[in-house]
Amino acid sequence: MPVKIDPFHAISISRLAHRLRAEGRSVIHMEFGQPSTGAPAAAIDAAHRILDTDGMGYWESPGLKARIATYYGETYGVAVDPERVILTCGASPAFVLALSCLFSPGARIALARPGYVAYRNTLKALHLVPVELACGDAERFQITAAAVERLDPAPEGLIIASPANPTGTIIPPEELKALADVCKRRGIALVSDEIYHGLSYTRAAESMLQHAPNALVVNSFSKYFSMAGWRLGWLIVPETLIDAARARMGNLFLTPPSLAQHAGLIAFDCREELEGHLKTYARNRELLLKALPQMGLRRIAPPDGAFYIYADVGHLTNDSLAFCEALLRDTGVAVAPGLDFDPVDGHGFIRLSFAVSTDLVEEAIRRIKPWFAARTLDAAGALHIEEHAGE
Ligand SMILES: Cc1ncc(COP(=O)(O)O)c(C=O)c1O
Repeated sequence: MPVKIDPFHAISISRLAHRLRAEGRSVIHMEFGQPSTGAPAAAIDAAHRILDTDGMGYWESPGLKARIATYYGETYGVAVDPERVILTCGASPAFVLALSCLFSPGARIALARPGYVAYRNTLKALHLVPVELACGDAERFQITAAAVERLDPAPEGLIIASPANPTGTIIPPEELKALADVCKRRGIALVSDEIYHGLSYTRAAESMLQHAPNALVVNSFSKYFSMAGWRLGWLIVPETLIDAARARMGNLFLTPPSLAQHAGLIAFDCREELEGHLKTYARNRELLLKALPQMGLRRIAPPDGAFYIYADVGHLTNDSLAFCEALLRDTGVAVAPGLDFDPVDGHGFIRLSFAVSTDLVEEAIRRIKPWFAARTLDAAGALHIEEHAGE
């Protein structure tokens, strides 16, 4: 029997948002985790030129592999041989490669809940067993070494993400090290999703490779580089897994798009433009962190990185999908339901993506402020009636 995979519920919100827009409504898209900016200008210029001269066959760019390897030295002080870099069509296939290189069907893989929806579903699709660890605001929604230590029996694998989706929290260096230690001691293979590296506001995120040289590290051009639709990413594997990973990439996906690889190499040299996006996100984050508590949304983990705010709306709803639909219909602001990230406790959460312009964030705040005020009054009224119902 094929395994059942849940859809992204944010897609149904996005579909509704597009329908409303087609009906002439003004919609602000904060439901998906993608930059509203395009690829860096120089990368686009290069792509135009290359289109006229390159045959676009199957291809792996040696220059890009070397550039990515150099990036690990420059950024984290970690030496990576370019042969350990597997170019992929984004982080999503990189996960498929990593998981299928490491595990056999039935293997138990630990991960944080809340977490990126595709982890759970990719594991299931590969006949692996997600072991979800509930992570609340006390541990800033992140897995701790202590929680991994308590797992009995030990899982075969652990997926971590720092900065995380949906919360943006970063695992501090000492905790990363503790996670690396417990995994080494208990024989747990580590997969580290570092797709939001480069996007941090409080502290730079360390790579798991600084603590666990054999960890498999996933990264992509979709977030910091603002190239989600170009479908380009990479996986760093230890030397022992190079052949296994290359065989899987070749058989399952062949190569990433040639044009994207050419453009990706240029994007590495577009720091000024990309840092400009980061400044916009930092402004947006500040605006939301100021505005949301004024709307009664006080239980949020201030995001260290990425471009999300995961906010507790449990005092207003226990159906985050219906809540997001109502918010969208009433205000034209689309956000993602917590249900996507946490099937157990996500009914009372929403995720706002602030990878849009500051003007749009300001406009979204203007629209949702009175909406939340009215909801909060309604909820207080309902509570009052309930309290007095038995009198
Ligand atoms: C945490 C995380 N990992 C991986 C991905 C997949 O990214 P890609 O576009 O590189 O496949 C996403 C996309 O939103 C994400 O949030």
